[in-house]
Amino acid sequence: MDAQRAQYLHDLGITVWERRGLFIATDPAGLSGDDNTSLPSDARATAIAQMDWPELETTVKSCTACRLRTGCTQTVFGVGNRHAEWLVIGEAPGAEEDRQGEPFVGRAGQLLNSMLAAIGLKREQVYITNIVKCRPPSNRDPALDEAAACRPFLDRQIALIQPKLILAVGRVAAQSLLGTDVPVGRLRGRVHQLQGIPVVVTYHPAYLLRSPQEKRKAWADLQFAVHTLKEHTA
Ligand code: URA
Repeated sequence: MDAQRAQYLHDLGITVWERRGLFIATDPAGLSGDDNTSLPSDARATAIAQMDWPELETTVKSCTACRLRTGCTQTVFGVGNRHAEWLVIGEAPGAEEDRQGEPFVGRAGQLLNSMLAAIGLKREQVYITNIVKCRPPSNRDPALDEAAACRPFLDRQIALIQPKLILAVGRVAAQSLLGTDVPVGRLRGRVHQLQGIPVVVTYHPAYLLRSPQEKRKAWADLQFAVHTLKEHTA
């Protein structure tokens, strides 16, 4: 194993055993650019569901569908490969993401990068976005109505990317995506479905920074995700 990969695994708190060469580790209607939030929510969702990437991005930028936009610096749309096999979905932009306009660029983002690298993925290979595109004040959890207002954007991103696997990181992302209040601990280790795409749940990197003893479980989740993707593409 090369030193860099060993470092990624170390960041994840994983001890690696190597034995005899065997590596065991554990707006189609012309809505684009307009604030389309005056439309009834069904019509708005229908319009968003037909947008291409540029329209979608412009519409997110000008969105005022919920109160979050008034408190954030800028919207944080998503980043990465729009043809990715892996779609990583987090909760909401934090302070650094709000400043830079890109998801997962703070400390949690650095750990997310290491988590991806540990399974051989570069950040640029995957697509990364959040349940809500605007930073909630004081990093509070997004409210249900805020997540619902932002959902058509996420649904359209999923439909455009058509990933082979969705990795939901953290409680808010997992519960919001799957429409459940089951705790993350019980959502892990199972394959869920969204729009016919397998969804695997793991802990949020910010939680792992606070609770490093849980990194081992996150590593197991990542391996489970790799296995799930292989099974679904076999
Ligand atoms: N936490 C998230 O859930 N998303 C980000 O973009 C940053 C931190």
